Amino acid sequence: MVKKIRASVPAKVILFGEHFVVYGKSALASAINKRLTVDVSSREKRGYHIKIENIPTFGLEMNLLGEEERALPYKDYGAATKAIAYVKESIRYLEEEYEIGGGAEGVEIEIKSEIPLSAGLGSSAATCVATVAALKEYFGISGDLEEIREDAHSIELAVQGAASPLDTAISTYGGYVLVEKGEVKRLRLAELNLIIGTIGSIPLSMGMDTKKASEMSLKTKKIVADVKTRKETFTSIFDAIFAASDEITAQAIRAMKDRDFVKLGELMNINHGLLDAIGVVPRRLSELVKMSQESGALGAKVTGAGGLDEMGAVGSVLVLPGESVDRIKAAMEVAGALVMDVNAGGEELKIEVGSD
Ligand code: MEV
Repeated sequence: MVKKIRASVPAKVILFGEHFVVYGKSALASAINKRLTVDVSSREKRGYHIKIENIPTFGLEMNLLGEEERALPYKDYGAATKAIAYVKESIRYLEEEYEIGGGAEGVEIEIKSEIPLSAGLGSSAATCVATVAALKEYFGISGDLEEIREDAHSIELAVQGAASPLDTAISTYGGYVLVEKGEVKRLRLAELNLIIGTIGSIPLSMGMDTKKASEMSLKTKKIVADVKTRKETFTSIFDAIFAASDEITAQAIRAMKDRDFVKLGELMNINHGLLDAIGVVPRRLSELVKMSQESGALGAKVTGAGGLDEMGAVGSVLVLPGESVDRIKAAMEVAGALVMDVNAGGEELKIEVGSD
């Protein structure tokens, strides 16, 4: 009998406060109804075998065992390398922290995702949370959600350098999460219907250039570091921008509680302006935001880390559509974006135990 564990987690959108949260300012994020699943089962051959199937963009397979390690055919190398980095670090971390011994046994890890990778929708955190949850269950390590979240956050930090606890908290708990002064708080807020527009996970011009692809996998790290440099040059200006962001998040929570969506949309537009001011809005994402606003959106903004023109502007925008859903979606599709309708406030981490 083969034991099978499935962990499934939601992707996220940051509604307010990305980047500013890295400096202790508040940020509000929501789980969305797009999920990533990790299936863990035993295999006859020794070592870990990892298979990644990303429905919007690509697939990749890899054997993880010392010198035998090799990648099998893939399409989107950059995003796949990135996902593999988080899985490898999850295994390394669990082996060290909990002394799991899958290398000797033979473990199959299969990842399926409904969310584009490297797009600011929390795929890295989702991969960490689901991999940790599935492997811990598979190896019989008990623990609560809080521990899974903390393990996953340590893994994300090890790969990425700097990371706030926001993304791993959302993938673990679902719903809405506010991070305030580094503390994670779960909030009860009403569901929202949103549109996400994503500029593809890797520009074709980068092709299979592995150097560029691995630079790509560090996109968030690079953008966060660029913001830090600018903040050091323009400290007092950035302090004022950061204080404004804190106020936006506070007012946005009030607007959501009051169901004042016009105000909420305006706050999204202002938040986008601040993200542009700190230099994380590349041309193509800026166009998606402007087009959505012109097409009648109540609000639109970059969500997540943003993007870099030299990396093909890969990233996502978040739109509160109001009455103009179809016009906004059509405009974004013409601009070459992958467009998704999503509900904010999605469900938390789920673990299923089964057997063949
Ligand atoms: C990335 O999804 C969001 C950033 O604020 C970084 C972080 O919070 O770790 C840019």
